[in-house]
Amino acid sequence: MVDANSTANFGVGAFLLAASEMVRYHETENKSAMIRPGEIWPDNTGTHINAHGGGILYKDGIYYWFGEHKSDHTSAALKGVTCYSSTDLIHWKNEGIALRVEPEGSGSDIEKGCILERPKVIYNELTNKYVMWFHLELKGKGYEAARAGLAVSDYPTGPYQFITSYRPNAGIWPENMPDKHRTLKAKASDFEGKLWTAKWRKVIDEGLLVRRDFEGGQMSRDMTLFVDEDKKAYHIYSSEENLTLHIAELSDDYQSHTGKYIRIYPGGHNEAPAIFKHKGTYFMITSGCTGWDPNEARMFFAPSIRGPWTQHSNPCIGKDAELTFHSQSTFILPVAGKEDTYIFMADRWRPHLPSDARYIWLPIEFENGLPVLRWKDEWNPEL
Ligand code: DGJ
Repeated sequence: MVDANSTANFGVGAFLLAASEMVRYHETENKSAMIRPGEIWPDNTGTHINAHGGGILYKDGIYYWFGEHKSDHTSAALKGVTCYSSTDLIHWKNEGIALRVEPEGSGSDIEKGCILERPKVIYNELTNKYVMWFHLELKGKGYEAARAGLAVSDYPTGPYQFITSYRPNAGIWPENMPDKHRTLKAKASDFEGKLWTAKWRKVIDEGLLVRRDFEGGQMSRDMTLFVDEDKKAYHIYSSEENLTLHIAELSDDYQSHTGKYIRIYPGGHNEAPAIFKHKGTYFMITSGCTGWDPNEARMFFAPSIRGPWTQHSNPCIGKDAELTFHSQSTFILPVAGKEDTYIFMADRWRPHLPSDARYIWLPIEFENGLPVLRWKDEWNPEL
């Protein structure tokens, strides 16, 4: 038999239980209202966000995060480029596949199984189009194609239509390559098996690979995009067998290269470029080249996008700084409406379970006017 007291007790117990559930719910809510670098980051469906090597476009109050969809078994593109949207940078809605790879056997440049990496999207005011550039490697050819791919859409979330892929700036010399280096006779084949010698470094510096690739266009792998205050856009990519970064100006519609480009740190072996502009100075954070393994970030700054670029020390401070906190840069996001507030975005790759790669997002701090990155277990961009 149930007496009145025990019913009352049960009622109180149920109330306390419900209250504690609520406290726990809010704790979870608060906890999830945080950026937690390196942890599973669920989207609105509860699934870990799948947007690797990504970048963010901010348009009309919404952030759009684009990235590589990765499967469980391969880093090759089986689906394409994903898109997620958010208003607070913490809660992300899965907007599906923005650029879909073409069916197997189609012969398309972006055929399923190609390598499609580091997509970035910018909005063009003249055409009212969303323009996506990405690093493309043709299916079955490893990393030898080294092309830039272009896709365009009328809507931020897509669908994006694949337009073309090519090696940029065919038949055009870099602005900062001296005339006397354009006619040198040294050839890449002279140095087979003799890399990393002082002589080899010198000829790389003098543009050996720019000359080799002059007719067919310059190699274009890890990349980012940057739109300056005057709305000119730039494509920044690892070129010359990943030895040298190029900064190339895009046309007014952002859909081709104008032929104006410079080389940065010939032979410096920089990948994963991410750039931002702070108080008139351009800052770029890159990585070295160690495949999917992390290495020490590098930082460069310049008074103009066209240089001169100066190298500074690693911006990371503290434990694991020499491995960029076990990650590799992909993008730097200026937070909308907040002056001097930037988010460093990086990937902690998982080549054996590519879909499980994690996101390392950290706020950029400034010390003596220079960007600094410190590890944080969790943080909120609003704080
Ligand atoms: C490092 C690059 O940054 C990645 O985007 C990817 O291309 C891997 N190398 C492949 O090893």
